[in-house]
Amino acid sequence: MKVSKKVSGVEYAIRDVVSAAKDLEKQGKTIDYLNIGDPVQYGFHPPENVKKAYIDAIKKDQNYYSASEGIQELRSAIAEKENSKGLSIGADDVLITNGVSEGLDMVMSSIVEEGDEVLLPGPYYPPYASYIRLRGGIPVEFSVDLENSTPDIADIKSKITSKTVAICLISPNNPTGAVFDESSLKQLIDVANENNLYIICDEIYDQIVFDKKFVGIGKVAGNSPVIILNGFSKVHLMSGWRVGYIAFNNSPQLDSIREHLPKLARVRISTNHPAQYAALESLRGPQEYISEFVTELKKHRDLVVSRLNSMPGISCSNPKGAFYAFPKIENNPFKSDKEFVLNLLKSKGVLAVHGSGFGTKYGSGYFRLVFLPNMKILNSALDKIEDFVSGYKS
Ligand SMILES: Cc1ncc(COP(=O)(O)O)c(C=O)c1O
Repeated sequence: MKVSKKVSGVEYAIRDVVSAAKDLEKQGKTIDYLNIGDPVQYGFHPPENVKKAYIDAIKKDQNYYSASEGIQELRSAIAEKENSKGLSIGADDVLITNGVSEGLDMVMSSIVEEGDEVLLPGPYYPPYASYIRLRGGIPVEFSVDLENSTPDIADIKSKITSKTVAICLISPNNPTGAVFDESSLKQLIDVANENNLYIICDEIYDQIVFDKKFVGIGKVAGNSPVIILNGFSKVHLMSGWRVGYIAFNNSPQLDSIREHLPKLARVRISTNHPAQYAALESLRGPQEYISEFVTELKKHRDLVVSRLNSMPGISCSNPKGAFYAFPKIENNPFKSDKEFVLNLLKSKGVLAVHGSGFGTKYGSGYFRLVFLPNMKILNSALDKIEDFVSGYKS
């Protein structure tokens, strides 16, 4: 029977390549999975006090629907966190969601109508384009300099039309690891203000940065119409518990969305109630587990980038945050980056994601590797990639 064009058009490259890997596994091949951005699947776990908070909430019978906007204690703790990054908001400016994914869905549902355009950093995390298209909107990619981690402001300005409603930022970025600095963020705020656009900023990797202290959009937001998306899946190692949030800046331009978006929270009733207590504990309890995680990841980043750059026909800019490397395939002998990835999988059993899955305009010709696996697995996977690219070169 018929399904809507909108839903049949949804793509999610990160999971799409998995079916090819599963087929090979059925034939007895061992696969190195370097495709999923989930730290928990690679052995990084939430600390015991956080797990205990979840279990305690269950034992205390907090197993019923929570308030649709989320529990007040967690909303307060999140407001404090965002204020320490530069905003000036209260608990009522925070809405708890089933991960950033649901927050993104709610924001796009609230602002995008048929034919509206939304600017996205190219390449981008695929659900951004999917949620925009599901609402009949059009994702428009702008260019980002990966070497310097800077958005191309002139390119953004040239792509703003009467149909543009928002600029989305993802910093640190998936798939590139680019992190925008304060001056770039300020310029982006200025462009948004000049054109009466929402700024939607995804900071889910905010504490996973390797070289410089992180600066969030809150630091330069002033009273601009900034909406922050964030959550507990990456930094806080709680991907399967599905907790995220939307934080609204104190801006009169956000009055309408603040009135209407919470209705979407009410129609879906509530998020996971006991998991919200775990999220609260992850903010209020000891924070060392985060620095330990990031220190380990930095070693992985350094290894992966230096090894990739020593391979023939591969070049890789240094990801400044998150846990992805996004190498460029110079002189690809295959007909596309997707073919490169599928051949790498078939011949060496290493699963990466093709760059064009993150937007064809700026992602084509690249592939994405997750550097979450331990150093031994990473080294072995890199040996296989090196063999692969050296083999087709000779
Ligand atoms: C930039 C970005 N935003 C959001 C998500 C999904 O977050 P959540 O698990 O909170 O839905 C991801 C996951 O990979 C991501 O990379």
